Amino acid sequence: MSGMIEFDDAAAKSVEAMYLTPDVVGQRARVLDMLSPKPGERIIDIGVGPGLLAQDLARLVGDTGRVVGLDAAAAMIKMARTRLAALPQAECVEGDACALKFPDAWFDAAVSTQVYEYVADMPAALSELHRVLRPGGRALVLDTDWRSIVWHSSDEARMGRVLACWDGHLADPHLPARLAPLFRRAGFTVARVEIVPMLSPHWQPVSYAAGIMRAIHGYARGNGARYGLSEVEVQAWYDDQLRLIERGEFFFSVNRYAFLATRQDAVGP
Ligand SMILES: C[S@@+](CC[C@H](N)C(=O)[O-])C[C@H]1O[C@@H](n2cnc3c(N)ncnc32)[C@H](O)[C@@H]1O
Repeated sequence: MSGMIEFDDAAAKSVEAMYLTPDVVGQRARVLDMLSPKPGERIIDIGVGPGLLAQDLARLVGDTGRVVGLDAAAAMIKMARTRLAALPQAECVEGDACALKFPDAWFDAAVSTQVYEYVADMPAALSELHRVLRPGGRALVLDTDWRSIVWHSSDEARMGRVLACWDGHLADPHLPARLAPLFRRAGFTVARVEIVPMLSPHWQPVSYAAGIMRAIHGYARGNGARYGLSEVEVQAWYDDQLRLIERGEFFFSVNRYAFLATRQDAVGP
């Protein structure tokens, strides 16, 4: 059985709540700053999720632009459609990052945040991204490298086992480390790479750290057995975090990596 997360209605609500926290609001500001969307541009958001970034993009491209939010999950498309309903320049379509149903060179720019880490065939996904961007078009891709995590625990070995289990929810929990060569092989130039930290140096109830702690707890309870983790051990890991919070000893940090790449070559004859 695969450990990949199913993005159903419950998962959509949980992603939305986590992505409304100040940490991820700040991330979206960084992404928009790096991509610099312009009025009139045609932009695709691959793996649109709850539609929060697509909403910002639609406002920035304005009435003369176009934003397409694409997602593989029907529940995510439903949520994004509701969010974008008042913005006629935005539309949402169900589809796969590896088979984009758009003409060649259709978009001026593309974003894909926290999506490609779920995709097993990255050469196929980047080949499609390259095809649908116009020559010189920009792609902003952001993913987490879970190796960058610093999360205080009273039992480092148990924390390692829980995080190894969590790694199983992704096709590649360390994608950023190999993203630049993947981009280059697909015909892109990597223009900029920046770190976007999700940092909670102390407990903050409304934070990415709080949301991800709950998500990992739920995931490890359902999937831990495949990693030799009993329910008792998963609960002990969670209770340890609650104790550390109570004692004022909580610390969490993980890095996301934002890549700005441009499509290099001209469209072939
Ligand atoms: C963690 S959410 C991120 C959502 C959004 N990009 C954001 O940053 O707010 C991951 C999203 O990627 C979508 N996804 C995963 N694999 C996909 C694929 N192969 N094609 C399209 N969407 C995919 C999921 O359905 C989910 O909505």
